[in-house]
Amino acid sequence: AKAPVNVTVTGAAGQIGYALLFRIASGQLLGADTPVRLRLLEIPQAIKAAEGTAMELDDCAFPLLAGVDIYDDPRKAFDGVNVALLVGARPRTKGMERRDLLEANGGIFGPQGAAINDGAADDVRVLVVGNPANTNALIAQAHAPDIPADRFTAMTRLDHNRALSQLAAKLNVSVSDIKKLTIWGNHSATQYPDIFHAEVNGRSAVEAVNDEEWLRDTFIPTVAKRGAAIIEARGASSAASAANAAIDHVYDWVNGTPEGDWTSVALPSDGSYGVPEGLVSSFPVVSRNGSWEIVQGLEINEFSRERIDASVRELEEEREAVRALGLIK
Ligand code: NAI
Repeated sequence: AKAPVNVTVTGAAGQIGYALLFRIASGQLLGADTPVRLRLLEIPQAIKAAEGTAMELDDCAFPLLAGVDIYDDPRKAFDGVNVALLVGARPRTKGMERRDLLEANGGIFGPQGAAINDGAADDVRVLVVGNPANTNALIAQAHAPDIPADRFTAMTRLDHNRALSQLAAKLNVSVSDIKKLTIWGNHSATQYPDIFHAEVNGRSAVEAVNDEEWLRDTFIPTVAKRGAAIIEARGASSAASAANAAIDHVYDWVNGTPEGDWTSVALPSDGSYGVPEGLVSSFPVVSRNGSWEIVQGLEINEFSRERIDASVRELEEEREAVRALGLIK
């Protein structure tokens, strides 16, 4: 039998945590032949709630679940970690300035990055879900100089899945008929969902849509503002769909993306497509042998260039702001 994989989930008592932990324990994160040991990190006030969730995990009698441990100390929670899901973050509260938001999150993701640097297993993979996800990932990565930078990722898979679903509905096809869609840039309202390279049953998605106005005025804003629309409708932010996207992200990272398709992941830029090196920005990627590779050689038209550049500019501003706060060098 395989040895259990250590999966640390931060913010485990939150709403995404509640939608995520049971799916991890059932084998959906890594595959049905891989046992997992869950390590939950929470702040002291939420430990009791995390214990309640752990009781429910026990009550599921998941055959693959090798154990659940609960911590309020990142050093302990990340000791020996193989997969780190950084979900817990400081939300923006009413009247909070962006600077305060970045600073509060720097206080979380800096120490967590350092703890991962010092304690994680050699094969550690990190997914940041907590917002602002790209810049939180940048901060964590900057505190982990001994770990290859491309092990730090931020989640744009929910945006990717939202875009797939919107496009499938427009064309009246199944989501599985669509390949090679891309989310570029920041997981924010400036993100750019790109269908210029997408294929629908092997033919060009843009040609199938044949409606630039829909693309510009409906598709892109619907995907980019979907998070706000969910809050408006549900009275709470996306949780099950965010958990689902986190599962998809890690599953593909470990098991590979299907031949003839790609997905979207925010990871430290290597300079591809003119995105400044080091910025954690979303790209089209494939997963091969357990690593993400940015898809190269795509032609970027003017419509796309403008939108990618605008989102990347926002990421640069966030990086400047956290530098000015002394959160990264
Ligand atoms: P929530 O507020 O229900 O849960 C967050 C949990 O994190 C709380 O239990 C809190 O105690 C915990 N936490 C706070 N600071 C912590 C720390 N230093 N260490 C460990 N735990 C800590 O929030 P929810 O709905 O679960 O969302 C979590 C994050 O995910 C938010 O930042 C949200 O904006 C983000 N998000 C990102 C998405 C994406 O696509 N990248 C999609 C949806 C949400």
